[in-house]
Amino acid sequence: MRSINTIGILTSGGDSPGMNAAIRAVTRSAIYSGMKVFGIYRGWEGLINGEIKELTTESVSNTIQRGGTILKTARSDAFRTVEGRNQAYETMQRFGIEALVVIGGNGSLSGAVELAREHDVPVIGLPGTIDNDLYGTDSTIGYDTALNTIVECVDKIRDTATSHDRIFFVEVMGRDAGFLAQNSAIAAGAEAAIIPEDETHIDQLASFIERGIRKSKNSSIVIVSEKDGGAMHYAERVRKEYPQYNVRVSILGHLQRGGTPTAYDRILASRMGVAAIEAFNEGQRNVMIGVKDDKIVYVPIARAVKINRPIDKELINVLSILSI
Ligand code: F6P
Repeated sequence: MRSINTIGILTSGGDSPGMNAAIRAVTRSAIYSGMKVFGIYRGWEGLINGEIKELTTESVSNTIQRGGTILKTARSDAFRTVEGRNQAYETMQRFGIEALVVIGGNGSLSGAVELAREHDVPVIGLPGTIDNDLYGTDSTIGYDTALNTIVECVDKIRDTATSHDRIFFVEVMGRDAGFLAQNSAIAAGAEAAIIPEDETHIDQLASFIERGIRKSKNSSIVIVSEKDGGAMHYAERVRKEYPQYNVRVSILGHLQRGGTPTAYDRILASRMGVAAIEAFNEGQRNVMIGVKDDKIVYVPIARAVKINRPIDKELINVLSILSI
């Protein structure tokens, strides 16, 4: 098998805390293995436009603790087209980049599958997204930090909710997945979570209200996943259907994506970054690095992006038992 001497690394899609720790790990372990490393700026856009600089061990100094991504990121429409991907491949040839490490979520890794298929480019993916929605890994880089950020915010909202005897609908990110909503609800002791995976969620609101939220409590927190109208939708419903309640909405928004990564995310990103280079050295191609039962695993990228990661029903049960 042909060995790889020069790699490119990019971050794409929504940034997530821990991406810098991953860039640092990939860069340093690639250099340790004798490879040359190019940093590609603004994700796939930068690969198309040739926004590329060589990275040294020093380029990634003092970055492990920083949120965001030092390589910047973008959502690229051009890369969704065959012409865009052809241009990206031309850039790779021009810089002598033989293989890519792509750090990102579902959309970014789907782009990698296309490029690999059309141009036979070896790619290793790292799951970088706060949504935790990639199949084949127990956790994605950034998820733990975002979860902790949400819990910190909800603890604060709880103070004012209790003081005013209010119901708060707190909207969290997650795109089509409810991992952030369900687990932050458990961790913050919320009364309910409304998530896209639970198809009975409309009734869930009614049953939550009807089972008498105020019997023993004077305030309630409901965490709502951003999909399907989010928190506003449910607050409006309560205002119309249960006007006796005092309702407020808090949409946490992009603050969930920022901040210094937790130790868990830094360690996860560091392990995955080193594993990416080991995977190339072992001859692996077109796999995403995942973690299962605390062990590094390789998952074909095409599977990781296609299969919907189910939410464990036990989590739904835990919340409903503990919120009585
Ligand atoms: O995928 C990460 C994520 O933060 C989602 O949770 C959210 O739906 C989306 O990105 C927001 O994207 P943007 O920052 O482009 O508005």
